[in-house]
Amino acid sequence: MGDFDKIWREHCKDEQTLSEYALAMKNLADNHWTKKCEGEGRIEWCRSVCQEYFLQGGMKRMLEKDEKSAMLAMGLSAGAQPHSSMPRSMSPLGKMRLLDVGSCFNPFLKFDEFLTVGIDIVPAVESVYKCDFLNLQLQQPLQLASDAVEAFLRQLHNPIDTLPAQLFHVVVFSLLLSYFPSPYQRWLCCKKAHELLELHGLLLIITPDSSHQNRHALMMRSWRVAVESLGFKRYKYIKYSHMHLIAFRKVCVATTSDLVSRNYPEMLYIPQDFHSNEEEEECADVPVQARSEFEDDQVAWGFTELPDTPYDSDSGESQSGSLPGFHELEDPILLQS
Ligand SMILES: C[S@@+](CC[C@H](N)C(=O)[O-])C[C@H]1O[C@@H](n2cnc3c(N)ncnc32)[C@H](O)[C@@H]1O
Repeated sequence: MGDFDKIWREHCKDEQTLSEYALAMKNLADNHWTKKCEGEGRIEWCRSVCQEYFLQGGMKRMLEKDEKSAMLAMGLSAGAQPHSSMPRSMSPLGKMRLLDVGSCFNPFLKFDEFLTVGIDIVPAVESVYKCDFLNLQLQQPLQLASDAVEAFLRQLHNPIDTLPAQLFHVVVFSLLLSYFPSPYQRWLCCKKAHELLELHGLLLIITPDSSHQNRHALMMRSWRVAVESLGFKRYKYIKYSHMHLIAFRKVCVATTSDLVSRNYPEMLYIPQDFHSNEEEEECADVPVQARSEFEDDQVAWGFTELPDTPYDSDSGESQSGSLPGFHELEDPILLQS
């Protein structure tokens, strides 16, 4: 609640706490998550999505699919000559240019196929540039060949305050968006990512959620609508034990400017946005009657007895589960309306 800019400025000044946080985060990632959640590496997921999309024909397949849908929508037959909007392909020796926002300990640096730029308000390692993404200024795109763009990225100076638009093939928000106290800040980040990406580039969003697959299905649907409104299209989605992982591809060169008036920023909510301090204080000494995972599932299955709810199963590209919507009544947006 309140003046988020002021809260954010004060937060960023507290270097001591931020440094402690950065080290704790690195420790958590190095020593806890990697061991506890084997096979569920978020960084490895990002890597495999990028390889599949840029190097193994994923982008081409998506563009062909887009062309086909566009022709069908115009009433043309599938055999008609498409107007080709195919991008320049990745040069065989070029690297995927990746911006890791909230990089903390630069987890992508070890992969050769990326030219990684890691940025953070408080870097935990030297190779990460200091930069507040919320206040990063964008300039005109560079009009350079890809090797010259790579050379430009290799000689950036610390701290980073400005970057040219359309510079990256990939922007990663790994456990970043839930860090911000307001949905508007999350939305600003997504808008900035759109501007920093080349057309057809990928925005990879990973956000924590330790509850089971469908508990926050409506929230994830809401995020999808908000992010797509900026000129993205969802490409992949998967739920791991402790997080959602979503890939969006940039499908429009520019975003339109009246989006704020249509409530899209609010759609990037997280459950914590609806917790007030008062509620927490009031509840502090009341013992919580937690439902077990088993009881949770029983309640969930109870909802399958209800008639089907309208829900877009996301066209098979989604790897979400088979019980959509059963937690809708717990959803804060739905309750508000
Ligand atoms: C939860 S950590 C995630 C670290 C890493 N990406 C990972 O997946 O393990 C969130 C990181 O985002 C950084 N961060 C928060 N707000 C930021 C901003 N406005 N600009 C850049 N980094 C930010 C924090 O300092 C912190 O290191």
